[in-house]
Amino acid sequence: MQKKGIIAIDGYSSCGKSTVAKDLAKELGYIYIDTGAMYRTVTLFAMRKGLIGTEIDITKLETNLEQINISFKYQPEQKKNETFLNGESVENEIRGLEVSQHVSAISAIGFVRRRLVELQQKMGQEGGIVMDGRDIGTVVFPDADLKLFMTASPEIRAQRRYDELTAKGEEVDFDAILENVKQRDHLDSTRKESPLLQADDAVVLDNSNMNKEEQLEWIINTAKERHLI
Ligand code: DC
Repeated sequence: MQKKGIIAIDGYSSCGKSTVAKDLAKELGYIYIDTGAMYRTVTLFAMRKGLIGTEIDITKLETNLEQINISFKYQPEQKKNETFLNGESVENEIRGLEVSQHVSAISAIGFVRRRLVELQQKMGQEGGIVMDGRDIGTVVFPDADLKLFMTASPEIRAQRRYDELTAKGEEVDFDAILENVKQRDHLDSTRKESPLLQADDAVVLDNSNMNKEEQLEWIINTAKERHLI
């Protein structure tokens, strides 16, 4: 890519999009933006405000939406981005199972998506970004220079999330995680607002049997073949 472009990575939950997106951004000197973290942060905000009960208090969430400021900061010691909600680091909290259980419902709300999509388009307007999510190649950047659609089997994805959470010391049940992965696949791909869809011009990457180095190499080769880099 002569001019720094936009790389869109979409796909199912827990299939390693963010790991590969981070590595790719580093390799190319691009900025990485994790849009799932943005939906997770709005979910945490709604939980803390008591807006998620048997139903979501949509009206209150809409009036409170303006109060949510989401930002990212690169933490060089940990070599990762940290997510902030109104100046407070929420990086760990947004990855927990409770947020994961509610995030699909929050991300199905039209006004939440419109607000976050607008923010994402602003973040990417200068190019030089790798953005991952569910609707990046279809809605946020339909003209992205390279679109990847990632997938892996539900069992492999649940195992990866299980390993990630137990490594952080969380006590979790594998079956509950597998159930959550399957439920989110279903909700993400059947919702009315921007369902998870593979863009017509996306390249599919099934990483069930690939390690992160192999995935990065595969993407770099794909980008080169298309004369993008
Ligand atoms: O990538 P993730 O698992 O952290 O995403 C959390 C949730 O947010 C996931 O259930 C789907 C939703 N999401 C979305 O609807 N659109 C995006 N661009 C990114 C995430």
